[in-house]
Amino acid sequence: MQPIIIANWKMSLRPAEARRLLLLMRTKLVKEKNVEIVICPSFTELTASAKIFKGTNIAWGSQDVFWEESGAYTGEISALSLKELGCEYVIIGHSERRRYLHESDEMVNKKTVAVISSGLTPIVCVGETLSERQEGQTEQIITRQIKGAFNNIDLESGEKVVVAYEPVWAIGTGKATSSADAEAVFSLIHDILLDLWSLTIIKNNVKFVYGGSVDSQTAKPFISGSLCNGFLVGGASLKPLEFAKISQLLNSK
Ligand code: PGA
Repeated sequence: MQPIIIANWKMSLRPAEARRLLLLMRTKLVKEKNVEIVICPSFTELTASAKIFKGTNIAWGSQDVFWEESGAYTGEISALSLKELGCEYVIIGHSERRRYLHESDEMVNKKTVAVISSGLTPIVCVGETLSERQEGQTEQIITRQIKGAFNNIDLESGEKVVVAYEPVWAIGTGKATSSADAEAVFSLIHDILLDLWSLTIIKNNVKFVYGGSVDSQTAKPFISGSLCNGFLVGGASLKPLEFAKISQLLNSK
């Protein structure tokens, strides 16, 4: 399966800076043919992304979505609106949203259903906090988050899903987990998904990506991982050269 690299710009940039970076990204990344590239800027830059990446091999995504199609939901944005703009991916259940906006597994599930049924690809984030890890609860937390996110979802019509394992303690800290650790969690997720979907569906429709302090150095050991199919990148995705280097590494996968 083609590896994927996803940029999560979070709330790091103002519109003018973000537009400059979108243009730089287009210049730096358009050559990368064997890697799927996805840029997720803020809502304020989604229409600019649609224009700038039109006709290129770079896709763009949203950092969030609401689960209803339309109606009285002040401040929210539907998957159908995103789709109409040309959005292809949506990050769902990022640990920052789980933490600051109290997003529950049930909300993650509703958003995942809405995204899939609108023809978009969800990037579902899971991961344990440091204290959960220290208390030996990683397996339990990941199992709950994965079962919760994909409850009552089948991928029988070939819909795609990206699962991002992002240990919370590794995000923005400069301390990526080891590739062996990530592979063990991917393998756990793979086993949980086997209860929901067939092996063929998992093989063809599900990508596993690692996120948490990924840069062109920390990314290297993950490239040879058998289940790891790419990266979700925060801080380093704001540096076009660094981001391009990580995608070049994936190109050799
Ligand atoms: P980071 O963020 O690469 O800055 O650690 C990753 C993420 O939060 O998706």
